[in-house]
Amino acid sequence: MCGIVGFTGKQSAAPILLDGLKKLEYRGYDSAGIAVMDGNTISVSKVRGRIANLCEKTGDGASVPGSTGIGHTRWATHGAPTEENAHPHLSNDGRFAVVHNGIIENYMALREELIRDGYRFQSETDTEVIVHLIEMYYRGNVRDALIKTANRLRGSYALGVICSEEPGRIYAVREASPLILGIGMEENFFASDVTALVNHTRNVVYLEDGEFAELSGDEIRIFDCTGREINKKASRISWDVQAAEKGGYDHFMLKEIMEQPAAVKAAIAPRIKNGKIDFDELGGLVSELPEIRKIVITACGSAYYAGCAGKYALERLCRIPVETQLASELRYSDPLIDGSTLLIVISQSGETADTIAAMKECKSRGARTLAVVNVVGSSIASLADYTVYTWAGPEIAVATTKGYTTQISVLYMLALFFAERLGRLGEDAGGLIGQLQALPRRIQQAIDMNPSIPALAMKYHESRALFFIGRNTDYAVALEGALKMKEISYLHAEAYAAGELKHGTIALIEEHQPVIALCCNPSVMEKTLSNIVEVKSRGAEVLALTFRNNHKILSAADDLLFIPDADALFSAVIEIVPLQLLAYYVAKANGCDIDKPKNLAKSVTVE
Ligand code: BG6
Repeated sequence: MCGIVGFTGKQSAAPILLDGLKKLEYRGYDSAGIAVMDGNTISVSKVRGRIANLCEKTGDGASVPGSTGIGHTRWATHGAPTEENAHPHLSNDGRFAVVHNGIIENYMALREELIRDGYRFQSETDTEVIVHLIEMYYRGNVRDALIKTANRLRGSYALGVICSEEPGRIYAVREASPLILGIGMEENFFASDVTALVNHTRNVVYLEDGEFAELSGDEIRIFDCTGREINKKASRISWDVQAAEKGGYDHFMLKEIMEQPAAVKAAIAPRIKNGKIDFDELGGLVSELPEIRKIVITACGSAYYAGCAGKYALERLCRIPVETQLASELRYSDPLIDGSTLLIVISQSGETADTIAAMKECKSRGARTLAVVNVVGSSIASLADYTVYTWAGPEIAVATTKGYTTQISVLYMLALFFAERLGRLGEDAGGLIGQLQALPRRIQQAIDMNPSIPALAMKYHESRALFFIGRNTDYAVALEGALKMKEISYLHAEAYAAGELKHGTIALIEEHQPVIALCCNPSVMEKTLSNIVEVKSRGAEVLALTFRNNHKILSAADDLLFIPDADALFSAVIEIVPLQLLAYYVAKANGCDIDKPKNLAKSVTVE
């Protein structure tokens, strides 16, 4: 996720663009830039790092003349966070500048075509193909060139464009990434969200997918994807800036829970091509797969629990032994690791000290390393032999949600990808791919199916302790469900393999003890049902998470959470969602600092 802004009017554009980018910095902050037009001259200023660096470079915009411009703050997805990869990107003839939020899924093919046609690339980004396409299609009318360009793009994009042939004009194009127009007095704006607009105007127009806008100081014209002009009504913004940064949600964590359908789609969609999983970034690893005798997954916190959930699919589909090891343990365990081991390192931040240390220890013993990370260009990404990005966008809340579900989604895809390349994927490959593609929709269903969660949270929020139980894939999710509850609500919560209860832990079960039972894996459902009966006979109150038609569980449990029917092999990213929401509402009932829980950090970069 990135942030884009645009301005045209009578005022100096640069300070307004910088101010807008500051309001969008939570959307991405690894590099930034502005392109400002003064007459027919476009000047571009770009930096690596935060907006503050751009303010310093441009004297808070004072050194950049012109009253028309566009700006961008980046969350890298393709290409490391360098100045060259920072937006805006310029056409070879210097007449066009573009900023982009989104992912162009077919950028490699377009890049090859454009290079064949003689266009020179300055960056590694997917975005740069856009500005060269515009130059290629431009015959004197920018809007026509934009329509032809948009017809070539697949993926998501909110674009800002300026052309030196059209001083005073900025262009905006929207497809699957948010883009809002701000209507001022003899000045007009666009931005990725209202936070960058509310200081200047509260009159806005929300562009919809396939729509284009042409803005000058005193006019906004909007067109559909065929070039037909359309009328759209303006809205009045009532939010303040603070609320707007969270998209109207009370906390970043809730916003990021709700972003999970889109985040999982962003992780999955670009990697499904012609009905198969394809990782452009793993070409070299394919030839090494037959030599792999063992996979070790290492990480910390929720990233480790993501590995515990993804392990089942890897083992089932690839038929290679998979071990999960906490990085803080692995680094000191004198591990039996050599050149036949594939080490999968999972980390949202890519900077966790224990994980880096474990990775270095295993590399020193010959392991091949594959990083699954969210932050492009992070330390773990740089250290790894191979890197697969989760493309979850910036995650602000300390307790991860979309980081966890996109990590598991990548592990599911790796399982299918490795199995297919090893010739071990049976005839149900198409069905499994279909299950994967259905995940974003099913995550949304898991959100919509549980309106009772806030009320359930009021029932449990003063519990002394909570037990999360499950078997197999359900147990892996129980681990993360318990951690979410501990992290943000400060209630003691523990996950137990349901079959393990009778070996000691059941001694803790007393009258009204809440037990959250995960019952989403048919292969062990009957066994978990017996565990529910065991704890209920000792007075426990059971909240079961299961499918709507699971009548045996429905009649056994006291309270219920639901998920849509799904193959247990790929259901962890669905099951966790009601548990994330339960933890969120319990924490809210307890008045906790949900986005910044006490004692925790988003990334622990020390041992
Ligand atoms: C903890 C975070 O500090 O580190 C967790 O609070 C996270 O949310 C864990 O899962 C590992 O962090 P990372 O960045 O390596 O995934």
